[in-house]
This record gives sequence, structure tokens and C-alpha cells, in this order.
Amino acid sequence: MTAKAVLAEIERLRREIREHDRRYYILDRPEVSDAEYDSLMRALKELEAAHPEAVTPDSPTQRVGGAASSDFKPVAHSGPMLSLENAVSEGEFRDWAARVAKGLGPGERPEYVIEPKIDGLSCALTYENGRLVRGATRGDGATGEDVTANVRAIRSIPLVLHGTPAGRIEVRGEVFIDHKDFDLVNQAEEAAGREPFVNPRNCAAGSLRQKDPRVTASRRLKFYAHSLGASEEGPKASTHEEFLDGLKAMGIPLPPLRRKAASVEEVLALYAEFRDRHLPRLAFAVDGLVVKVNDLKQQRRLGATAKSPRWAVAFKYPASKTRTRVEDVVFSVGRTGAVTPVAKLKPVFCAGVTISSVSLHNFDEVGRLDLKVGDEVVIERAGEVIPKVVSVVKEARTGAEKPVLPPKSCPVCRARVAKEEDAVAYRCGNPSCPAQLKRSLLHFASRDAMDIEGFGEAVVDQLADSGRVASIADLYDLTRDDLLKLELFAEKRAENLLAQVAASRRKPLARLIYGLGIRHVGEKTAETLASLYDLQGLSEAPASELEKLPEVGAVVASSIASFFGSAEVRGLLERLRKAGLDFEKMEARGADGLPLSGKTFVFTGELSSMTRDQAEGSVKELGAKASSSVSSKTSFVVAGSEAGSKLAKARKLGVPVLDEAAFLKLVGR
Ligand code: IVH
Repeated sequence: MTAKAVLAEIERLRREIREHDRRYYILDRPEVSDAEYDSLMRALKELEAAHPEAVTPDSPTQRVGGAASSDFKPVAHSGPMLSLENAVSEGEFRDWAARVAKGLGPGERPEYVIEPKIDGLSCALTYENGRLVRGATRGDGATGEDVTANVRAIRSIPLVLHGTPAGRIEVRGEVFIDHKDFDLVNQAEEAAGREPFVNPRNCAAGSLRQKDPRVTASRRLKFYAHSLGASEEGPKASTHEEFLDGLKAMGIPLPPLRRKAASVEEVLALYAEFRDRHLPRLAFAVDGLVVKVNDLKQQRRLGATAKSPRWAVAFKYPASKTRTRVEDVVFSVGRTGAVTPVAKLKPVFCAGVTISSVSLHNFDEVGRLDLKVGDEVVIERAGEVIPKVVSVVKEARTGAEKPVLPPKSCPVCRARVAKEEDAVAYRCGNPSCPAQLKRSLLHFASRDAMDIEGFGEAVVDQLADSGRVASIADLYDLTRDDLLKLELFAEKRAENLLAQVAASRRKPLARLIYGLGIRHVGEKTAETLASLYDLQGLSEAPASELEKLPEVGAVVASSIASFFGSAEVRGLLERLRKAGLDFEKMEARGADGLPLSGKTFVFTGELSSMTRDQAEGSVKELGAKASSSVSSKTSFVVAGSEAGSKLAKARKLGVPVLDEAAFLKLVGR
């Protein structure tokens, strides 16, 4: 192909992909299968890889191309991003409607538009000549944060508007996550030993403010537009409805279930209908309706207060408590073997969703509630918080209720389940329990650990169930043939996965330590450990020594020591070494090859073995910087005797603090 033909083909593929995106996200009428779409994307990627000069930022391949940034620059909004006034009862809604009527004057009856109030975070998107140039969070309403790189990673947000309209358009809307994806994120968070997000809104907010746009992309956020920012050009419209239709024609996604109402009574009827019929079926969290005056001239006449427009109101559904019956209590087994009781409920609608199962967390909680199978319980879902059982309706007992007892054997592998001394959790004692194995494999391969893309639940299930993979080490001798035997695996996918596994051999030591899934060792602790030890050293370090490290207390230290003390783990490490994971070379090293590059140290107090200058020199030799003031970006504060306010500040900001012994170890003295 000539250079010109290549460029034309690249453009053609981009147009086709954009059109499929529009059909999928906007028109809800996809025309091609996922496989066909993927193959277009692959063809484009291959052409762009061969012709990197032809790559442009608006190419569909570049959604996660932007550089990772650790801070989000402030963005002044073109006009204030307002909030909405709330109405939490019929009376309050009628009051709002009366104020609207008064504001418009006698004889003028507004028409209303009703939309679901999406429970996410507001976000402003700016397009210039049809190209997405900026995404910003609401912030304090006047100034938000620049999250452009992450907004680009949201697949339903077009990078190029349909018809590439001229001028500057700012569209405001809501970034949110579907219930299903929220559950997946939380499962992954829990498997990684992190706290789950309390609700979809927090999850969406946390996912949009990620340093790495690939993480945002993996969270499958969505966006629906609901209002216009200050724009040079916008869709030509005389009503809110026309404005939304104009946005849709440009390929911008809109909330579903838009309705019109001619009177307050009609709004009230829709409020009840939405609650009973529509909202329970929605894929995402909704905490009310937004009722807007449709006519844009009327909107302008009504204007806004400092906080909110007078032409719209959030008509909320009250946080609910509901009664339902516990039909069963089942047990789920986590990565560390912890057995969690989960109540299966008679499905019930509560604050916008249907709830059919709720975690009881642990058996102490079951005891505290005195909950039995068959009990009538009160469940609560305040705001969008994960539903919980608040109490048991003891008066409703018939005597047929059955107590919930911790299982004696694991529901998955039948091994003995026991309660550890001084711990709340009951655990399955079989380290090769399939449930634990699967969760461990998923954790090992997860993005923050060894980052083996394509090694998801379906693959793990098949490999573990067939017995082909019974340990992390087995990943490293998987062959093409093994993978081709799995469902849905063709050559290309098998090769990609093998390449990912191969690449994981060279990941930093911190990721391996984290990926091993040592109890109580999160990413941050893994990094600290990797900066102080090689794997051999770590596996031999006594708990008494580990205990002195920053953020490592007695519990964590003994967990690490007992993990490495097990013959099985030693065997695993030996196998990983044989598989070519080169632990020595995996030490955390920065871009310039020095072990502490990119790190910043602050010294406070006096060291007994060297002067401040010598100490600073020793970290600089290893590539780090020494600074005199503590901030959240400080990597370590080294505290000698009589350390003062800098130590207090480090503690306040959660910056790791090293004592002299730990510091000397770190710099290898
Ligand atoms: S219209 C205030 N429509 O709710 C400017 N807002 O509690 C006009 N929200 O900040 C907003 N769904 O981020 C509008 N269908 C919807 C909405 C919606 C959710 C958010 C919005 C606003 C917040 C106020």
C-alpha cells in the first residue's frame, strides 16, 4: 500500500469504529458482533503500529494513551456548576411547583420534563470543533479538576462528535457505574485485600480520579448528559427536550426514561410509576427524579439562586427500610479461605433496587443480630449504601426458624473449617481449596499485582476446574495447546495471554510480593518490603525484624514470617524461580536504574551513626532526593532522636516513617 492508501485505510477504520460505537452506545442497535468489532480495532492497531506517525489523539485506539498523571490540574468552569434543590416529599415538590408558577406569572403553565436522577458525579465535557478536549469534575462548582485522560477512557463518551460540529460545546452530565460493574470492582477490591467501595457513587468518583487511565478504563464507567455548560455553540433548541435530542444526534449518551408531564398531578403519578415499575429495572443507581421546566425561555426567566437553578428540582425517594424474609444463608469462600455468611432474601425492592442477597460479614454479626434462616428481617439501604440487615423481627417468629451455624466443612472443597484464635473469621484450612485457588490466581494476575491481562474469571474457572492449573506456578508452564482447549480461545487470544504471562516474569518485586496474597500485605506494604529486601532476604527475615518496619506491626510481621515459613510457599517460590522469574533483578528500580530514584526523603531529628549531610548523601547516591519539608508526596521520613513537627506531619499525612535502623538497612549500610 502507498502511504496515502494507508492513511485512507486508517481513517476508514476509525470512521467505521466510531459509527459502531454510536450504534452501540447511542442508538442501542449494534450491527456487528463483539468479535467483528474487535477485529476492526485490531486491524487499526496494527496499521497504526506500523505507521506511528499517523496516530492521532482522537483515534479510537488512543482511549488510554494519555500519560498517567498523579495530580489533576485545577480547571475554572466556564460558568458555575450548580447543584439541585431537593424535594423529599410530595409537599416539598408542590411547594417548588408553586414557586415556579409564581415566578412565571399568572396564566402561564409550565410543561415539565422528568429524568432519573443518576447517582454518580457530575462532569463537564468540552468539545472544540467536534473533538473532546477536556473533561473536568465539578469540584467546588467554580473550579474542578482536569480528568481529561480518564474521561477519554470512558467508552460511551465520544472522542469525536457525530458530524464534527464547529465551535466549542460544553456538555455536563453524570459519570456513574452500573450495579453489575460496581459488584465486579468490589469483588476485585476484596480479593486484593482492600476495602470495598461503600456505594456506586464513591466507586465512580474513585475510578475517575485514578492516576492511571487504564484503571479507569477497567472500571467500565458510563456517562449520561443532562445539561449544557456555557457554550459558544450548542444544539439549536427552544426546549430542554430539543436540546437533549440535539445532543443525541451528536452522539452523546442521554439518560433513559425521559418523560413529559403537563401538570403537578401528572408528575406525582410518574413519581409513583417510576418507583414501582421503572427504577427497579434500571442497571444503575438512581436516588430520585429530576423534574425540569421544559421551555428554555421560561428556564431563563426563572434563573438560578447562587446554589441551584429555580427551573429544576431533585424529587428524591426517601432512604428506605424494608422487611423481607431470609430464605437461606449460604457461605462464600474468599482468597484467604475466610468463610463469609451471605443471607439469601426473598427479593425485595428497596431505595431503587431489588435486593435478593446481603452479606452478613461474619458469624459474630450473625450472633449479634441473632439471625436465623426463615426470619423476617429489616433491611436498610440508606442513600446508595450496600444494603444491610439492621434487625430481626422477633415477634414474627413461628418457631420453625433454623439457627445459622458456621459450617464444619468448606462449601467448596469439604476441608475442615476452623476459627482461628483471637480472630473473627472462620477459615477453610485447605490451601489448595479450589475457591481459594481461583481467588488467589485472580489476585496474582490482577492489574495491581502481576497485571496479566486476559486472565479473568472465565479462564481461571476453566483452568482450575480441569486441574490444569493447581498453583500460581502452573501459569508459567501453560502452553498454547492448553489454552486452545479452553472455550472461546483462538490462536490470537492464546498468544496474547502467553505473551502477558511471559511479560509478568519481569515485573517489579513489589508486585510479586503483593500478588502472592500474603494476608495483611497490601500494595503499599509490598512496596516498602520490596525497597528493603530481595525475595530471599524477605523470606528469611524474622518477625521481630519485620515488626520494626514502617507500617508493619506485629500482626503483619507474623503473617509475613509464617507465610514464608511454610514449606509449600518455599516450594512455590522455587518453582517460580525455575520458571524464570528473576527475583534478584526484580528489585524496585527507577527509570535511571538506581534503586531509590523518584523517591523523596525528609530527615528529622538526629541520627547516631551519621550526620544529616552524610544521610542525605547516602540517599542521593541511590537516586533519591532529599527535601526539608514533608508533604503527601514525600516517600519516607527518617526520624532520629528528638524528631519534631516533621514527624507529626508525616504521621498526619500517612507518610511512612523509618527509624535509624530501618533507614540504614534501606541504604545498605
Ligand atoms: S440537571 C444543576 N439532571 O444531581 C444543573 N442533574 O444533586 C442541572 N444529576 O449536580 C442539573 N441526574 O450532577 C440534572 N438527570 C439529571 C441528573 C442530574 C443526576 C446530578 C447533577 C447535579 C446533582 C444535584
